[in-house]
Amino acid sequence: MEKETIMLPGPVAINPRVLEAMSRPIINHRGEKFGEILEYSTQGLKKVFKTKNDLFILSGSGTSAMESALGNLLNKDDKILAIVNGKFGERFSEIGSIYGNCISLNYEWGDSVNLENIKEVFEENEDIKVVTLVHNETSTGIINPAKEVSKIAKDNGAVFVMDGVSSIGGNYVNVDDWGVDIAILGSQKCLAAPPGLAMISVSDDAWDMIEKTKHRPYYTDLKAYRKSLNKKPPQTPYTPAVSLFFALEEAIKIFLEEGIENIILRYKKYSDAIREAIKSLGLELFPKLNEYSNYSNTVNAIRLPEGINETDLKKGMKDRGIVISGGQERLKNKIFRIGTMGYLSSQDIINAISALEFVLKSLKCDISIGSGVSRANDILFN
Ligand SMILES: Cc1ncc(COP(=O)(O)O)c(C=O)c1O
Repeated sequence: MEKETIMLPGPVAINPRVLEAMSRPIINHRGEKFGEILEYSTQGLKKVFKTKNDLFILSGSGTSAMESALGNLLNKDDKILAIVNGKFGERFSEIGSIYGNCISLNYEWGDSVNLENIKEVFEENEDIKVVTLVHNETSTGIINPAKEVSKIAKDNGAVFVMDGVSSIGGNYVNVDDWGVDIAILGSQKCLAAPPGLAMISVSDDAWDMIEKTKHRPYYTDLKAYRKSLNKKPPQTPYTPAVSLFFALEEAIKIFLEEGIENIILRYKKYSDAIREAIKSLGLELFPKLNEYSNYSNTVNAIRLPEGINETDLKKGMKDRGIVISGGQERLKNKIFRIGTMGYLSSQDIINAISALEFVLKSLKCDISIGSGVSRANDILFN
């Protein structure tokens, strides 16, 4: 079997140290050693989130933490504003409709959100309790203005929930400075750990609201998580995915050894190189930016050139050992996505661009072989 480089926007390639940690024998999840791992990971993640708020690690993927946030905060008639400009924003609106009374502020997927529209929704609705936003909309490669939206939410007395599943640890985030009440991360993204764990931070304002919720979800009840974490040794309420916690502890060690700011800069450099290469090949980046949005450091969404089919492109790339993503749902066959998170090197980025050039050419796309690679090389190695 030939080597494959996984360049999805999550799950991502993992350092062998993490894989090795995951293969350790199972230990008692109520014992001292597990308590130490949980404590180390919780404190390490607070550094990554830049928060002093409570933080919990759920055994479940990112969506479990999205559901936990809204399920714990909302009573059935509470109004929630979900800002939607991609698939994961839409997921928040779907969850919000189950647990509360959800108003969605919808944009075309890939478009930027407009802060004036958000203020207008607040003018028309005084009683919005919760606002949700996806910071890094993985489906479109756009960074949404989380700090600014947080301020609008807080000025209007609402709790701000930020999906940072694919941004925390890879794009600049400061949970406490931005006033994010609930922030969410997935293990399989910037931390370069395996999929299956989700992290959620909870502010005092969020706790005040949670105290008033009558029917919280059972499995992701945040009060149960808080109670167990305060035990000696610290624990989780239900059996945790022990092997994934071994992996997470090691991934956090590696992450902190390199340093948060260095990792953010590295992911940014990879993405700058990909975007510049794409432009020099005459292809078009998908996000439509405004003054408040930006391109993501962690996922690059690129418009499929005229006449190129997503399946053919992905297959061509895979045949060359590079695994990339297509578009989700309505973006299928419209875009493709290249992730930069995880255990990658600058040369992996060059290899991906090189493969892309040859695959596009073989699919009869009018590009000049070498121009993308050369541009990426300038950025990565000069
Ligand atoms: C921004 C964002 N939010 C939420 C999710 C959902 O996470 P999961 O698939 O781990 O449940 C993802 C997954 O890709 C994501 O990128």
